[in-house]
Amino acid sequence: MKILVTGGLGFIGSHTVVELQNEGFEVVVVDNLSNSSLDVLDGIEAITHKRPIFEEFDLREKPKVESFFQKYQDVAGVIHFAASKAVGESVEKPLLYYENNLGVLVYILQELKKKQRANFIFSSSCTVYGQADQMPITEESPVKPAESPYGNTKQVGEEIIKDSCKVNPQLKAIALRYFNPIGAHASGKIGELPIGVPQNLVPFITQTGMGLREQLSVFGDDYPTEDGTCIRDYIHVVDLAKAHVAALQRLLKDKNEANYEVFNLGTGKGSSVLEVIRSFERVSGQKLNYKIVDRRPGDVVQAYADTTKANKVLGWKAISTLDEAMESAWEWEKNVRSR
Ligand code: UD1
Repeated sequence: MKILVTGGLGFIGSHTVVELQNEGFEVVVVDNLSNSSLDVLDGIEAITHKRPIFEEFDLREKPKVESFFQKYQDVAGVIHFAASKAVGESVEKPLLYYENNLGVLVYILQELKKKQRANFIFSSSCTVYGQADQMPITEESPVKPAESPYGNTKQVGEEIIKDSCKVNPQLKAIALRYFNPIGAHASGKIGELPIGVPQNLVPFITQTGMGLREQLSVFGDDYPTEDGTCIRDYIHVVDLAKAHVAALQRLLKDKNEANYEVFNLGTGKGSSVLEVIRSFERVSGQKLNYKIVDRRPGDVVQAYADTTKANKVLGWKAISTLDEAMESAWEWEKNVRSR
């Protein structure tokens, strides 16, 4: 069965391609290489002994999206990762984010509308909850006004899909709200490769560990948490990838209860920035150079998932610990730098 994975050479996309191929799906990757590289195809092939079909183009080019669906009429499901994801950049370039994250989504849904039956999985984010009033965060927690154009694209993206599902009963969709994906494949052949200075905590830590960055800045230690630093739910990317396969299977097997559903994907456990640093120090056997600086504007104090719905309904559970995820991230960082 053929599955389209947009952004399939990116961090979460590539790990999901591996899990799909492991489950026997035939994968077609579309990627414009804006934040990824062709080497990832080799990594996927080395792990699974299968090279996915690859189409390199930019999904903002609507005619190319149309031709793609003409060429691959037998696509049974779409997992849509392709999007921009840097919060700060989205404030600087809002229209780029709206075009890339929402324009493209509309083009794909327009193509799916033409099909007899369509199954669609959307990469969403816990950012839609903003600073939730209660922890852990369930799917019923209210969606708060977005703090950035990036966050807004995830909220509006979900609305666009929900509205489409209302009028197109043949379209079935699941939005997956990720908490903080980290780590890398156990093989060390694929992982996270940020271009330029990493914005996210874990790649910044591993690059500092390698000496590529001098020092990690910890953004604030005066939050109302036990050690004063922010709390997040760090989930191993391979666990996250497996949840996509579970969500897809749910749609393919007609097990969904509504034609639009949302699930939180996290571990259910919150870790502070200092706990992540300690975990890195344990698994790497080295001290990390860091200093406490001012808070980063827009950061929420804490965000961790109630995973009951995903556990029960998708029959999926994150199994890796923070140390296991950090160890895989560290192994990957060492591999990349020795290439
Ligand atoms: C946020 C969003 C997430 C979104 C992601 C996109 C929330 C709760 N999460 O992730 O949904 O997909 O942006 O990038 O809104 N930190 C440091 N020093 C650093 C980097 C980070 O101390 O150099 C701290 C941050 O303050 C934060 C934690 O590490 O407390 C995690 O930060 P990051 O990896 O950037 O992810 P989020 O901001 O949680």
